[in-house]
Amino acid sequence: MSDPVAHLRGIDDLGADGIREILSLSDHFLEVSSRRIPKVPALRGRTVAWLFYEDSTRTRLSFETAAKRLSADTMNFSVSSSSVKKGESLRDTVETISAMGVDAIVVRHRSAGVPWMLPRWTDAAIVNAGDGWHEHPTQALLDCYTITRRLGSLQGKRIAIIGDIKHSRVARSNVKAFVALGAEVVLVAPPTLLPPSLEGWPVEVATDLDDIIGGVEVVYLLRMQLERQQESLVPSLREYTMRFGLTADRAARLGPDTLIMHPGPMNRGVEIAGDVPDLPNAVITDQVSNGVVVRMAVLYRLLGSGVALPALVAEEAPDA
Ligand code: NCD
Repeated sequence: MSDPVAHLRGIDDLGADGIREILSLSDHFLEVSSRRIPKVPALRGRTVAWLFYEDSTRTRLSFETAAKRLSADTMNFSVSSSSVKKGESLRDTVETISAMGVDAIVVRHRSAGVPWMLPRWTDAAIVNAGDGWHEHPTQALLDCYTITRRLGSLQGKRIAIIGDIKHSRVARSNVKAFVALGAEVVLVAPPTLLPPSLEGWPVEVATDLDDIIGGVEVVYLLRMQLERQQESLVPSLREYTMRFGLTADRAARLGPDTLIMHPGPMNRGVEIAGDVPDLPNAVITDQVSNGVVVRMAVLYRLLGSGVALPALVAEEAPDA
């Protein structure tokens, strides 16, 4: 094992070796998750707090399931029923949670950079569950794991990321992680949905989906993030679908092994046609189930130091 990482705020906290380590740990936790009692005592006595300032379904449930399968205690913080409603600052909230004794804080916030501020106010390990448009590293890890399980590795694979790149924290983390593992990434979007500058992004850009669709191993669709758009960036959703949507027609032109991926939540009928998620090469539900095991690996990597993995995964919690 390389030196333990203190936090997972962005993909750069891990680097290529750190990503590979999470993926191989995930294999152990995949096996644990397939057991009749999918629970190990790896993080017994550790406490993980959720600090979600933005809506979430799958990310939050997935982290919660991961923590429970590792026997961690969890502290649930809901912005809508907390003192944040009375104007409590982020700093006071974090210091309060921290004073109760937490080992990790999983944070989602509408502002980019929040996970990097938190270590000023707490000694807990910070896990970024999405900060504004900036990063969503555990999504990138679960996507790398899903691709690795289906295609063997990412090395030399060509991956198209399609849609609202500009507002997507998933795209930012995924580009870094995919490229770190040796994939080539092509972004496909109308110019209005690309970031103002792509300087430093190790990617190609295409504006015509039909030009590239036959030559990629993965099509990764992004949700049109209408809640983050100040102005209308596409003439109409119908026109967007015609040019950039994965319609049934385009899906039929993909190679037989080309994976169809989406981080969810999907807008069926906009970026992806209604029946396409049900095709055999669509791995969208695998992404969700792999999310749990990858997040188990992340929590174990951050909090399980000093506890040997083989002993832990071999043992079922007696009181599970
Ligand atoms: C993404 C998010 O919230 O960043 N969803 C997720 O975590 N699975 C993507 C999105 O909202 O479109």
